[in-house]
Amino acid sequence: MTKAVRYYSRLGNTKTIAEAIAEGAGVKAMSVTDEPELSQRVDVLYLGGAPYANIMAPELKAYAEKLESSKVGKVVLFTTSNWSRRTVLALKKMLKAKNIRVSDEYFYAHRLHIKGRVDAAREFGRKE
Ligand SMILES: Cc1cc2nc3c(=O)[nH]c(=O)nc-3n(C[C@H](O)[C@H](O)[C@H](O)COP(=O)(O)O)c2cc1C
Repeated sequence: MTKAVRYYSRLGNTKTIAEAIAEGAGVKAMSVTDEPELSQRVDVLYLGGAPYANIMAPELKAYAEKLESSKVGKVVLFTTSNWSRRTVLALKKMLKAKNIRVSDEYFYAHRLHIKGRVDAAREFGRKE
C-alpha cells in the first residue's frame, strides 16, 4: 500500500505530528509549500493542518482544491489546534464534494500536548 503525508504548519505543531505519522507510515512528511501537488498516485494520503483565527491556511486550502480523486485511494486527516476541529470538518467537506474518499477517523492533537501525542501519531500512521 502506498502512502504519503502532506501538511501545512505555521508554528511547527502540525509538522511534528505529520513527521510522527510519516515515521509510522514509513514515508517522509512533506509540506504542501514544498510540493504543491502529488507527483504520483497514493493509496492513502494523510493530510493535515491547523486553524488560524478559525480558518485553515490558504496554502492548505489550495492544496485540497487542487487534489484530484484519481491521485488518491483515500485521505486520512489530522489537525492540531487550541480547541477547534474545524480544519478536519472543512477539508472533509471540500474533498467529499470532489468525490475523494475521506476516512471517518482522524488524528487530533492539542497545541499544548504535541510531544505527548507523538507516539499515538506514529501508531496512527502505522495502522492503515
Ligand atoms: C494567529 C493564530 C490564530 C489561531 N486561531 C485558532 C482558532 O481559531 N482555533 C483554535 O482552536 N486554535 C487556534 N490557534 C491555535 C493553532 O491552531 C495551534 O497552535 C496549532 O497547533 C498551530 O499549528 P502549527 O503549529 O502547525 O502552525 C491559533 C493560533 C494562532 C497563532
